[in-house]
Amino acid sequence: MTLPWPANWSELFDKERPLILEIGFGNGDYLMHLARSNPDHNVIGIEIANKSMEKAERKIAASGLLNVRAIHGRGETVLHHLFEPASIEQIHVNYPDPWFKTRHAGRRLIQRDTLDAIVSRLEPQGMFYLGTDILDYAEMAHDLLLETPGLTNQQDTPWSDTMSGRIVTKYEEKGYREGRPGHFFVYQRNDRPAPDVSVMKELAMPHVVLSSPLSPEAMLDQFDKMTHHAPGDIHIVYLEAFMDHRRRALLFEIKMQEPTIDQHFCLTLTPRDDGDYTLIFTSIGNPRPTLGMHIATGHLGDWLASLHPEARIVSRKVRE
Ligand SMILES: C[S@@+](CC[C@H](N)C(=O)[O-])C[C@H]1O[C@@H](n2cnc3c(N)ncnc32)[C@H](O)[C@@H]1O
Repeated sequence: MTLPWPANWSELFDKERPLILEIGFGNGDYLMHLARSNPDHNVIGIEIANKSMEKAERKIAASGLLNVRAIHGRGETVLHHLFEPASIEQIHVNYPDPWFKTRHAGRRLIQRDTLDAIVSRLEPQGMFYLGTDILDYAEMAHDLLLETPGLTNQQDTPWSDTMSGRIVTKYEEKGYREGRPGHFFVYQRNDRPAPDVSVMKELAMPHVVLSSPLSPEAMLDQFDKMTHHAPGDIHIVYLEAFMDHRRRALLFEIKMQEPTIDQHFCLTLTPRDDGDYTLIFTSIGNPRPTLGMHIATGHLGDWLASLHPEARIVSRKVRE
C-alpha cells in the first residue's frame, strides 16, 4: 500500500488517536512494546531494511494489535513527506547508525535536518527519546541538541545510562554484552517556534514530448551510464537503458537521491501515433513525482534531443 503525502493516519488506523513514531525499529520488539503499553495511541514504526519489515509485520499480525503499523521507508522521508507539523506525540530512535563514522555523514539519521524535522513534527510538549551505545554518537547528538532551541532536556545530565520504562532492544543488549552501556536522551518540545519544515507534497506527473529522426535503437546505441547533479543536492544516475521490442519503447533505469527521499525507478520513451515520442515515468518502483523526478525527466529529454541536430523538444511539463 502506498500512502498519500501527507498520510491520513486516522483513516489508516480506522481511529483517531495520538501518534507515536519509532524510526529504525530493527527486530520490532520495542515497537510492539510501545503498542502494547500505549493502547490509546497509534504507533507507527519506520524501517528501511526489508528483512526487519517482514519480521515486524509477522509480529504485528500475530499480536492481533490494531494500533501499530510498520512503514517501509527512510525516517527522513517519512518525517518530511508523511507527517504534518505538530502531529506526533512521541518520537523514539533506538541505536541508530552503529557504524556512523564509516558511512557518508550526510546519510546519518541524527543530523541537523532530521532534528529540525523532528522538532517541526512534534506536538506541543511532545517527547523525543534517543538511545545509543556509541559514546561518539552520544556526544555528536548532544552537540546538535544543544543547538536545537525547540527541545528541552528533561534530565539533569546530557544523557543517562538507564531509563525506566524501557525494554532492552536487540542492539542495546549487544552493547551491554560487548561492554558498551546505553546513553539515553529525553527531550521535550517547548514553546519556542519550530523550524519551518514544510510537508513535501507530490508534484504533477512530469513528461516530455520529443521529435527526433532517430529510431529507439539508434538512441539506445548512444546510451552510456550518466550522472547528473542538480542544485538542491539532487543526484541522478541513469544506470541502464533497455529496448522493449514489442512496443519499440526505451526503458531507462534511474537511481536518484534527494535530501529527503531516495528513489529507484524507470522512465520510458514511447513512440506516439504522430511519430513523436513521449518520455514519462512508469509504475516500476512506485516512484513519487518529486522535484528530482521532474529534473530527471527534463534532463533525459534534453539528452535525447541532443543526439541529433534535427531532434527537438515539442513540449515539456517539467518543473526545473
Ligand atoms: C543498529 S539497528 C537498531 C535496531 C533497533 N532499534 C534496536 O535497538 O535493536 C538500526 C536500525 O535502523 C534502521 N535504519 C537505519 N537508518 C534508517 C533510516 N534512515 N530510516 C529508517 N530506518 C533506518 C536499520 O535498518 C536498522 O534496523
